[in-house]
Amino acid sequence: MKNIKETVQNLATQVLDEVISHRRHFHQNPELSFEEFETSKYIQNWLTENGISFKSGFVKTGIVAEIKGNLPSDKVLALRTDMDALPIHETNDFDFKSKNDGVMHACGHDVHSASIMGTILILNQLKDHFGGTIKFIFQPGEEKLPGGAKLMIEEGALDNPTPNGILGQHVYPDLPAGKVGFRSGMYMASADEIYITVTGKGGHAALPERLVDPILISSHLVVALQQIVSRRNNPKTPSVVSIGHIEGIGATNVIPNQVHLKGTFRTFDEDWRFEAHKLMKNLAKGLVEGMGGEVDFDIHVGYPSVYNNPELSDRNQQHAIDFLGKDNVVDLDLRMTAEDFSWYSQKFPGCFYRLGTAPQSGEYFGLHTPNFNVDEAALETGIGLMSYLAIQELNNEL
Ligand code: NI
Repeated sequence: MKNIKETVQNLATQVLDEVISHRRHFHQNPELSFEEFETSKYIQNWLTENGISFKSGFVKTGIVAEIKGNLPSDKVLALRTDMDALPIHETNDFDFKSKNDGVMHACGHDVHSASIMGTILILNQLKDHFGGTIKFIFQPGEEKLPGGAKLMIEEGALDNPTPNGILGQHVYPDLPAGKVGFRSGMYMASADEIYITVTGKGGHAALPERLVDPILISSHLVVALQQIVSRRNNPKTPSVVSIGHIEGIGATNVIPNQVHLKGTFRTFDEDWRFEAHKLMKNLAKGLVEGMGGEVDFDIHVGYPSVYNNPELSDRNQQHAIDFLGKDNVVDLDLRMTAEDFSWYSQKFPGCFYRLGTAPQSGEYFGLHTPNFNVDEAALETGIGLMSYLAIQELNNEL
């Protein structure tokens, strides 16, 4: 037997055409979060045709497939993909563009699902080279709170057997196809939504002494909230509070009764995150009431932060270097965006890494944009790497 790296590379090349055809099928037939019924059916039929055992029905469309290696081991590794698309009208013009108007795979979940299928094809042929169990998690609803990952965990998709670690691969248009990126420890932020209503007493703008002006109070509040980030937060843990919506419908000569504000709070530390919620609420109450108004401060708790287990991440980054070469594996920076992979990484040792998808031409396609696309050469890197990482991780002596 040739060395395993070469074997995996050859298999990745062999299955690439099939994987591209699955990716194009998903791309052409996108479905919104928690409505991935046809996508799920397509994957289940394919698993059946390929003789891969699986369980379905988690969170309606979720699937867990399983392959056991033939070497002795009781290790369990989970590999995850998400299946949902976004409510975006696609402006691409290729022949596999979205047939479902107003819905588009603009976050690469078509690539993720096809990659996991390719990885299954490769690993299914290499069962003699690893031991233990690989669970392939096809989850719904990554793009919508509370996140399909959370519900998959609650419905037991990660139980019996429970994984020793979980890997997730996400497309990354900031890196060219052929390259990947890793980061150990804190990687992506938690994301909570802020909804504030400031109530005062409206009336004629020329007679402020008779009123409680919620516009003025809200203006102070927006500024004061930044104090939480600049003075209460430990500067070593990045945090962002942004108010992106202010609505107070008065007129040049009318002060309204109420102002509505909406925003987001993001950070990387789970203790500080909930402490900051309390501080923001207390600050708002003190400030608004001190100025004679009333405040309703509501926080919709969203995804936690993505924390990459340092041992698992460092090990897999090293394996990626073995497989792709040092020049093709980069260190990633922190990101203030969020991902529901965080639910897994809060519960199990997790490693969420990035697959470069930018074309060699240098053209750039941003995630969540109507012309998002990938260089499909990235699929070969994606399936080869994920298969190699799985084999190395399961054969790891730790
Ligand atoms: Ni995504």
